[in-house]
Amino acid sequence: MNIPFLELSRISPELKKRLERKFSELLNQGVFSGGKEVERFESQLQDLLGTRFAIPCANGTDALELALRALGVGPGDEVVVPAMTWVSTAEAVVWVGAKPVFWDTDEQGLLRSDWEKAVTERTKAVIPVHLYGKMQQMNELIQKANTYRLFVIEDAAQAFGAHQQRKAAGTWADVGCLSFYPTKNLGALGEAGMCLTQDERLARKIRLLSTHGQPIRDQHELIGRNSRIDTLQAGFLVEMLAEFEANQNIRKRIAQDYIQGLTGIPELILPEGMLEEDHNAHLFVVRTEKRDELQDFLAKNGIGTAIHYPQIIPSMKPFRIEGDFVNAQLLADQSLSLPLNPYLSQEESEYIVKKVRQFFG
Ligand SMILES: Cc1ncc(COP(=O)(O)O)c(C=O)c1O
Repeated sequence: MNIPFLELSRISPELKKRLERKFSELLNQGVFSGGKEVERFESQLQDLLGTRFAIPCANGTDALELALRALGVGPGDEVVVPAMTWVSTAEAVVWVGAKPVFWDTDEQGLLRSDWEKAVTERTKAVIPVHLYGKMQQMNELIQKANTYRLFVIEDAAQAFGAHQQRKAAGTWADVGCLSFYPTKNLGALGEAGMCLTQDERLARKIRLLSTHGQPIRDQHELIGRNSRIDTLQAGFLVEMLAEFEANQNIRKRIAQDYIQGLTGIPELILPEGMLEEDHNAHLFVVRTEKRDELQDFLAKNGIGTAIHYPQIIPSMKPFRIEGDFVNAQLLADQSLSLPLNPYLSQEESEYIVKKVRQFFG
């Protein structure tokens, strides 16, 4: 068997055809920036996620930066960021001139619930990250943020389609940020991202920031930048959306098979809450002290895996700082992501379970 961790060329022949058709359509129309396709993508996401405003942009990292700028976070401000996340969460804070203050996660990779101990008089915002697709408890976090008068920016880049109390990931905070990076649950054929907000003033500001400060062409209200989504990507994403729900069902089924097949191995810790609605089954992350050996063994048996992520942000060279990041470090040292995607066959997922069990004897 040869099972890649994720092979995007495995998308269904029907979807491939629809994407090719969309490309030809837009090529013939000659529309590559803005236009109806972008508007359609926006309104479909508004409906799907139940958000008042959905502002597409170039990628998820930009979405975070636009959110911070729109909220006025900048030099002299501090922002609480989990120690274990994709580097973008911290990068965006630095790019707006603020300081990321790292806090440990719990063993699932979510911002540890005592994060208020990181708050100082300079703290302006907190960025919970729904890591691996599991949502932070948002009611609790927002209540605490309100107590300290902090903005909340929800990094929902990995949690598209997850819901808590029927409210979609990304729609809880002042601004929610999404990524449509190709490997995500809803992935483009390139780069794309989005800001969600329920506040009209913020929505307008984010839109202005993302398009040179222009409410209309050649009128510049503020210093913005170019972070627009490509029309092609918006068009592709509309096509991808048609398969989203079916793909999510497959992801959940595989997660369920893994949980059933891998429960009861004392040396293997399984992810929690994967079948609940506030997890979108983006990544299936197991933990074991024998992580590296397991990864080698699976590779020798033709199974691709990944590590999300091998280094905590505070130990990366550009961010280096000491602190108590025990759980985040545990994840960096012991976590391993098994293949989990809609292109995985039942035979393949059964083989993966068999090989993991075989490794642990
Ligand atoms: C948690 C998290 N935040 C932010 C991002 C940034 O998204 P993008 O790669 O679209 O810039 C990603 C995705 O890579 C992510 O996983």
